This record gives sequence, C-alpha cells and structure tokens, in this order.
Amino acid sequence: MQYHARMRADLPASVRRLLAELTPADGPQLVYDAAQLDHTMREVAAAARGAQVQALFAVKSFPLPQVLTLAARHLDGFDVASPGELDLVAALAQPHHVLSMADPTTLGTAALAARWPTLALAPPRQLGPGAAPPRCLLSCESPAALAHALDVCPGAEPALRLSSSLTGQDPAVGSVQSGQGHHRSRFGVDAAPGAAELTRAQVTRAVELARARGRALGLHLHASDVTHTSATRWIELAQAHLATLAEAGVAPSFLDLGGGWHGVADLAATWQALRAALPAELPIFVEPGRLLAREAGFAIGWVRAARSLADRELRVLDLSRVCHLRWSQVELVAPPPRPGHGRKVMLTGPTCYEDDVLGEWLVDDAQALTPGEPVVLRGVTGYAAAWNTGFGGLPPAAVRLVPAMPAMPAMPAVPAVRVVE
Ligand SMILES: Cc1ncc(COP(=O)(O)O)c(C=O)c1O
Repeated sequence: MQYHARMRADLPASVRRLLAELTPADGPQLVYDAAQLDHTMREVAAAARGAQVQALFAVKSFPLPQVLTLAARHLDGFDVASPGELDLVAALAQPHHVLSMADPTTLGTAALAARWPTLALAPPRQLGPGAAPPRCLLSCESPAALAHALDVCPGAEPALRLSSSLTGQDPAVGSVQSGQGHHRSRFGVDAAPGAAELTRAQVTRAVELARARGRALGLHLHASDVTHTSATRWIELAQAHLATLAEAGVAPSFLDLGGGWHGVADLAATWQALRAALPAELPIFVEPGRLLAREAGFAIGWVRAARSLADRELRVLDLSRVCHLRWSQVELVAPPPRPGHGRKVMLTGPTCYEDDVLGEWLVDDAQALTPGEPVVLRGVTGYAAAWNTGFGGLPPAAVRLVPAMPAMPAMPAVPAVRVVE
C-alpha cells in the first residue's frame, strides 16, 4: 500500500494532493496550507480588534512574500528586527499600519532613518495627509540605545525594552547564566537577581532622556524565555513592567508585549482579559510570529537508509532538523499502531551532527518505511522556512504554499553566504 494512501484523514487535501505528485527526486519539502494561514490571520485579527489590541506580524517568523502580503492585508502592521526585514516589508506598509522595530544591534535605528527619511525629518503628525508614513515604534535595549534613537529618528516613537526576566520567575530559561543555575534573558534592560537598583537606575535614565527631549516613552518586552499559556501570567508580566516605569514617575505612551502567543489556547479571551486589567487608555501592541503558522506547516522527507538497532528501528531521511526544521516541534503524521503492533522508530536527518534527530514515534510494524518512502511531519512553523538551509551537500528544502497563491512580488534575494575576499 502506498504510504500516502495510509495518511491520516486530517492531513489537508492540498498537502495530500501534492504528496501524491512528488517523488524522492524532489527532495525535502516544507509545505504550508494557504487556506489555514489565511484562516489564522483572520482569527488573530478579529481577536485583536475585539480587545482593542493591535497585532503586528513578526516578519522573521515567516518571511515569504505571499505570507507578508496576507499579513499586510489582515493585520495592523509588522514587527521587524533588522534593516533586511525592513526592506522586505517596505513596499507593503500601508499608512494605517504600525511598524515596530526591535533591533538588538541598534544598526536598525540608522537604517530606519535612512529608509523612512520622513521619520528623521519630522514627526509623522506634521506631515501632510497623503505623505504620512506608517507609525513607527522603535524599541531600545538600553538608555544608550535610546539616546541614539531619539537623536536619529525624531519621528519614531521610542520604547524602552525591559528584560522579560523582570518578574524573577522562570529562572531556568535565558542565555545569561549566573553560575548558580540561574538563567535570565539577555535582551532589554537587565534584571539580574539582587540588582533591582541597577535596573531602576537604567529605567530612570531612559525616562530622563525622553523627558529632556520632550518625547513620550513606550515600553516593550518580548517573552523569549518561556511560552506563557494563561492570561494571568501575561497580565502579571505586563503589570510588572508598568510598575517598573511607574516607579520612575511616568506612564508609558504604549505597551508592546512582543511575541510568544502560540501557547495561549483562547487568544480572544486572553487579550480581552489583558485589556480589562490594564489602563483603558494604554495602547497595547502584540507581535505574534509562530502563532500565525499554527496547523498550517508540514514537512515531507524521504527515507534514504533503514537500519535496525538493538532496541529500535532507525530511519535516515533527507529531511534534517537542523537545516530544515528549526524552532518547530514536529509530530509524525501516521495512523496509530494496531494493538501489539507498535515498534519504536527513530527518524534522523542525514547530516553528521549527532543531534540531527527529528524524533521517535511508535509506528505500526506494517509500515516498513523502506528507502524511497515519504514521511510527513506536522507542527512546522514559518521559522523553518526562514532558517531553511543546506549543509555538507544536503540541499535546503523546497518551500511551497498549497494551493499556490496568486502571483506575488518576488522576494529580494538575500545571499545565504557572504564571501569576504
Ligand atoms: C521582539 C520579538 N517580537 C516578536 C517575536 C515573535 O515571536 P513568536 O514567534 O514566538 O511569536 C520575536 C521572536 O523572536 C521577537 O524577538
């Protein structure tokens, strides 16, 4: 029996049709269901509208021209993290859009001024109606970055980014290690345990800088540490940030809560609860990324080698976790094994990297998964397409939206490797 004839019925018809047309010669594939993407975009937009929250699409999470066009149509703007991302969406930005820039290198500040010259020349509200550029929020990692942004982009609305470790919870996540097993985020104004004075001093400095130039100050955080799943946790995080600024004697002009919304089951209820818990006049922005690719992403790989280990089967695919499936928690798409017929199968990528493992599943022993057979995985995010690369002779995966969407502008070529002579 053909593998795709045994696929689970909940595989979208468009992906199933594509699978029937492909052969092993087509190589690894990242396939996204266009109808599901459109559905999720609309759902997120409606949830945001219902809570008076503005949803900006995190460009890095899925930088395909078709996806960016969908986001421009349905959402309130874009979140970008580099000058390169700014270029990807410059032509799509509408006057009613908001553009948020959170660039940890500060290179983006200068790029913003160069690409949106109007921002550098005059605050948007002073421009004529036809010439209004999108509103631009500029998130700064430190008082020094803020000082630079205030000077270079007088038309942008600056925000101070505070560390998402501010609440002191979730101590086991983040890349700054203190040597006692405590980790914290390296982004934004530092929130080292026991160094609250230092954090406060930095916030006060930022408030003074903005005040001295007669500029309002927004707040930005991105919960990069853990995936928050409840409204209570989001509210706690937001209130901790607002309280930190309140100590310095000001209320923020806006609160940007960044991304990381994919763990929330009921987005509309969560955003409404957040809206109700925070000051009614406070503009709230969110920057969802991987949430928008929910249930839409699939990967297809082909079995290249089959081996039996002492305690499990091993299948080497041409699909690699490190090259093709970054930031994706994938699941095998296959019917469950019949009672007594399950056997452990470990699926790996073809690279020499020991950790290039896609996962291990209990698979029916009638599924031989012999070389040449396809394997389908679900739970693929847009980040997989964004990181997608080759390694050691292995090609990048082909990236497809199915059914194909109407012709869209081609994405500017970004060289994968820059050779410096
Ligand atoms: C500042 C910022 N906003 C939004 C996002 C999107 O996050 P997610 O894809 O988890 O929603 C990221 C991701 O790294 C980010 O750094």
